[in-house]
Amino acid sequence: MKTAPVVAATIAFDAQGIAFSSLYNDRYHPRAGALEQAAHVFLQGNGLPNRWHGRERFVVLETGFGLGNNFLATWNAWRSDPRRGERLHFISIEKHPLSRADLARVHADSRLPALAGALLQAWPPLTPNLHRLDFDDARVQLTLALGDVSDWLPEIVASVDAFYLDGFAPDRNPAMWQPRVFKALARLAAPGATAATWSVARTVRSGLTTAGFEVRSAPGSADKREITLARFAPRFVPRRAPTRLASAACAERHAVVIGAGLAGCAAAWALADQGWRSTLFERLPAIAGAASGNRAGIFHGIVNPQDGTHARFNRAAALQAQGAVGVAIEHYGAPGQLCGVLRLEQSTPLEAMQATLATLGLPPDYVLAFSADDASRASGLPLPTAAWFFAGGGWVQPPALAASFLQRSGGSAIVRSGLQVSAMRRSGERWQLLDAASRVLDEAVVVVLANSFEAAGLLGGRDWPLHLVRGQTSEFPAATSGLRLPLLPVAGNGYVLPALPGGIALCGATAQRDDLDGAPRLEDHRHNLAQLGRLTGSAPEIDPSALAGRVGWRCVADDRLPLIGGVPAPQRLQEPGIRLDQPRFVPRTPGLFVFSALASRGISWAALGAQSLASLISGAPCPLEASLLDAVDAGRFVSRAACRAAPR
Ligand SMILES: Cc1cc2nc3c(=O)[nH]c(=O)nc-3n(C[C@H](O)[C@H](O)[C@H](O)COP(=O)(O)OP(=O)(O)OC[C@H]3O[C@@H](n4cnc5c(N)ncnc54)[C@H](O)[C@@H]3O)c2cc1C
Ligand SMILES: C[S@@+](CC[C@H](N)C(=O)[O-])C[C@H]1O[C@@H](n2cnc3c(N)ncnc32)[C@H](O)[C@@H]1O
Repeated sequence: MKTAPVVAATIAFDAQGIAFSSLYNDRYHPRAGALEQAAHVFLQGNGLPNRWHGRERFVVLETGFGLGNNFLATWNAWRSDPRRGERLHFISIEKHPLSRADLARVHADSRLPALAGALLQAWPPLTPNLHRLDFDDARVQLTLALGDVSDWLPEIVASVDAFYLDGFAPDRNPAMWQPRVFKALARLAAPGATAATWSVARTVRSGLTTAGFEVRSAPGSADKREITLARFAPRFVPRRAPTRLASAACAERHAVVIGAGLAGCAAAWALADQGWRSTLFERLPAIAGAASGNRAGIFHGIVNPQDGTHARFNRAAALQAQGAVGVAIEHYGAPGQLCGVLRLEQSTPLEAMQATLATLGLPPDYVLAFSADDASRASGLPLPTAAWFFAGGGWVQPPALAASFLQRSGGSAIVRSGLQVSAMRRSGERWQLLDAASRVLDEAVVVVLANSFEAAGLLGGRDWPLHLVRGQTSEFPAATSGLRLPLLPVAGNGYVLPALPGGIALCGATAQRDDLDGAPRLEDHRHNLAQLGRLTGSAPEIDPSALAGRVGWRCVADDRLPLIGGVPAPQRLQEPGIRLDQPRFVPRTPGLFVFSALASRGISWAALGAQSLASLISGAPCPLEASLLDAVDAGRFVSRAACRAAPR
């Protein structure tokens, strides 16, 4: 998907004080009231609240988030309903989102002040990606897609129960009501899905009908004599890609997770958010004792002028990491700071950096281009070059972040440490996990391999192009003479953190591919000190042999993206009718999922990666768009190999 800059709405008010868009020359809601319209047209029109009673999840998709009134009204109705289902998912697509200031302004006198306040607090930087915002302990999950409805609908991975069609009037905003929009809605419709809109325009009714909806009129209220309601009743149901939301039918809602590093713990948390229990097997005596065991690490997004796959995935992931790390620090006492991160730019001049930001329209609360002077002021050190400043970045202690994920899972996650899974075998519908003596440790329908590089080994060897990259960090007293530490993390070639609790300076890290030496090395400390010198201009007077350090291994895929999703089924690749041209079509091994290859970005990627994995397992709407899911899909290498081998 090619992203376009997000242009915020310009809000005006008409003579009655109703929010008005000069761009579309239309009001955001009728005079009779936004909440009244939401109740009559969208809730009642879709059979709500009745239809969500007793449901594991109910999924709404709205075209046009606008002021968020429909979301607030739906959330309020769900909250006030003692018979509500377990989870409400609300997906909404918005081309011109409100700035935070405008959102505060339009909800200043809200009749739902607590909900409007929570929405305001969670309001994300206006970047062109999906934003997953959680409310009411994640029982209400809002997925905001910022951009054009036609670009986003084909990218949404979800099975939708009710559609709220709420663009501006079709004659003023035809783009929102085109046939291809209705066709894309049909692709997302769950069996029995309904749609409602206040519009009675002929184009709307015929568009819905052509897309497979049965359309009828219903009485309107206040400003509207009639409204349009529809039920999805297609003559044929399009085939869904086998990897997308494939294993929704696991009644026990329990997964076994192998490995309790950042990936495994985050997976347990994300599964719990979808109502799943998990049991984690960890061969070490405690969680986060391998790659995830460092004293501290940094997280932030990235920028590239093409806004390609890596930039988009890293941006979406960094925004989710910001939320997860914020909770870990604020509610679970994790050592860390959301203080921003400076990433020194070695080769691009400041003007080019600024031009990139202008072209991509990335907002300042996500990233800024700092001159060397600005960067020096922010860090308190004389920095040599311009830098990207990622305001939502920071540092955190990875084991504490992992622990916070487990704590947030409540009683839904059990860790069984000191137990190595040595093999797996199929037994009927279930996977059995075996120890070295072939005793069954546990069994489950769904198994998640979150055991880094060893995932491939447990599957009997895979042709995933993964390798291990050894890394060593260096630690010494922050009070060392000659050392000046930055006020916030500074990264470039290597990174250096501000003084850590206990007065410790930490810098790193080395990167040695396929090097299995586990002992800290003197030359690596020298290397880290040299990097520190280049980053900060300071030269600590310390003997490198006096430095403490830690060695770990990153698991890195050749394309530097994680592995997320169903494990491919090699024995099924030759079956007739199997498509391999896109990762989403690669056939999977029932019940087997992988979340691995978090490379040097486990802190940044854990939350979003785990949420995406949990949605693929549980069938909940995915916080990652289809094209990025393809990019991280564990089946991508199969698909690429098939494309390379195909006759031209
Ligand atoms: C030196 C260094 C510096 C880094 N700095 C940063 C940074 O600043 N920012 C950042 O975002 N990332 C950083 N990283 C990367 C980050 O640490 C990793 O991406 C992340 O920790 C990977 O998490 P994981 O859960 O996939 O792997 P791991 O933490 O290695 O967890 C896998 C777990 O699986 C267990 N396991 C394996 N096989 C089995 C089995 N058969 N049965 C039971 N258990 C098993 C292992 O014991 C292990 O605990 C750094 C990494 C290194 C090495
Ligand atoms: C009537 S308002 C929505 C009101 C909103 N549902 C609420 O509850 O406040 C219509 C919204 O559609 C958005 N919109 C218009 N064209 C769009 C497009 N092509 N893609 C996505 N959103 C669009 C507008 O920016 C506007 O916010």
